[in-house]
Amino acid sequence: MLQQSLDLALVSGVGEGGIPDAAFDKAVADLAPALARLKGEAETLPLLGLPADTADLPPVREAAERLRQSASNVLVLGTGGSSLGGQTLAQLTGYGTAGLSAFLPEPRVHFIDNLDPLTFEALLKALPLKTTKFISISKSGGTGETLLQTIAAITALRGAGIAEDRLGWHFQGLSEPARPGKLHALRALLEPLGVPFLEHHTGVGGRYSVLTNCGLLPAALLGLDIAGLRQGAARALGPVLAGKSVKETPAALGAALNLAAMRTGKNIAVLMPYADKLALLTRWWMQLWAESLGKDGKGTQPVGALGPVDQHSQQQLYLAGPKDKLFTVLTVANKGKGPAIDAALAKQIGEQDFAGKTIGDLVAAQGLAMVDTFAKNGRAVRKLHVDEVNEATHGEILMHFMLETVLTGYAMGVDPFDQPAVEEAKLLAKRYLAEGRG
Ligand code: PA5
Repeated sequence: MLQQSLDLALVSGVGEGGIPDAAFDKAVADLAPALARLKGEAETLPLLGLPADTADLPPVREAAERLRQSASNVLVLGTGGSSLGGQTLAQLTGYGTAGLSAFLPEPRVHFIDNLDPLTFEALLKALPLKTTKFISISKSGGTGETLLQTIAAITALRGAGIAEDRLGWHFQGLSEPARPGKLHALRALLEPLGVPFLEHHTGVGGRYSVLTNCGLLPAALLGLDIAGLRQGAARALGPVLAGKSVKETPAALGAALNLAAMRTGKNIAVLMPYADKLALLTRWWMQLWAESLGKDGKGTQPVGALGPVDQHSQQQLYLAGPKDKLFTVLTVANKGKGPAIDAALAKQIGEQDFAGKTIGDLVAAQGLAMVDTFAKNGRAVRKLHVDEVNEATHGEILMHFMLETVLTGYAMGVDPFDQPAVEEAKLLAKRYLAEGRG
């Protein structure tokens, strides 16, 4: 269960570097209509219906099973919200974690979210293409990165001698249904090859799609409990649906804190989990926060950090730089976990205090010490804590942040669901490509 504590983010907790209590109280009051609006959307905003939905899970499991068959590698092609949700879920199994990635069982799953010509070329050359599969994910079906990767993959498979009637076996598509009279590029590319498609939820945008088939397909492929993810999400959503007050709704309280931070000159929001399994959560959250709220000259800059490693990288600035940040430290009950420290070796290096402890004991102490050091240095810090990172707690964390973002957007008076600036650059890039510019 996700626990949240805001005391050390306020002036009453940490002194003048905190967020003024009056600004927080005002933000709590301003969140009330935003929370009422969200509750009123319980039946119309598809995001809020996801946790209770199970009807769409069997096709996801079937597609995952089909992909697993005889596959050595599966490349997930997609960018932005079509990839980051899957990535943060995949990290529950060790994907993207230093050292561990190399030892994961087959099929190995790779998310190719950044379009880099040399990386993709090298990958297509290195992979055993006869046993490699591809999932092409694009809500719109028209994103250049994903389309070009998919074309390059088809071409590479053909180059490797894969028969035309076998190409479809290598792919799974995931996109919105085609609209009458409008070319759907991804479907136009893959459907003639006999590639099956899962339908992207038309009412859930990319960065909110982690709990739809978009995030759940890679998760199911990796053997995660996708129903458990949704059950965890239901915990975060519960107070909203139950019509609880802002103070009784953790996501609304978090939104109030962020709103107050924004209004009092804290222009940077830092999320710092103390667990490798949550490292990619920060990339997912940064996109969610930036793309949802960076509008009309408003918004705060999201920054992802990781504990304890960034204590040796960012901590100096965090503690002694400008007091323009709201920190969220997300700790996990690490005590007693990991390798035990040999008492004789600890003594040999003059560190008797390490004797008989575990690496988890040190990480737990570091997370606690970091929070207290932020507070002692007058830095606004919110504490989040889960006992364990598993499907249920991860689902809860994801839904907490999505609700917090939507509620902050509503209270700011911006639309947290659109991304006009992203669309603008996509269209311009297509024009430049046609004109040979770049
Ligand atoms: O969150 C978003 O809406 C964006 O980041 C999109 O996910 C991203 O641009 C990819 O779009 P699409 O899924 O249509 O290919």
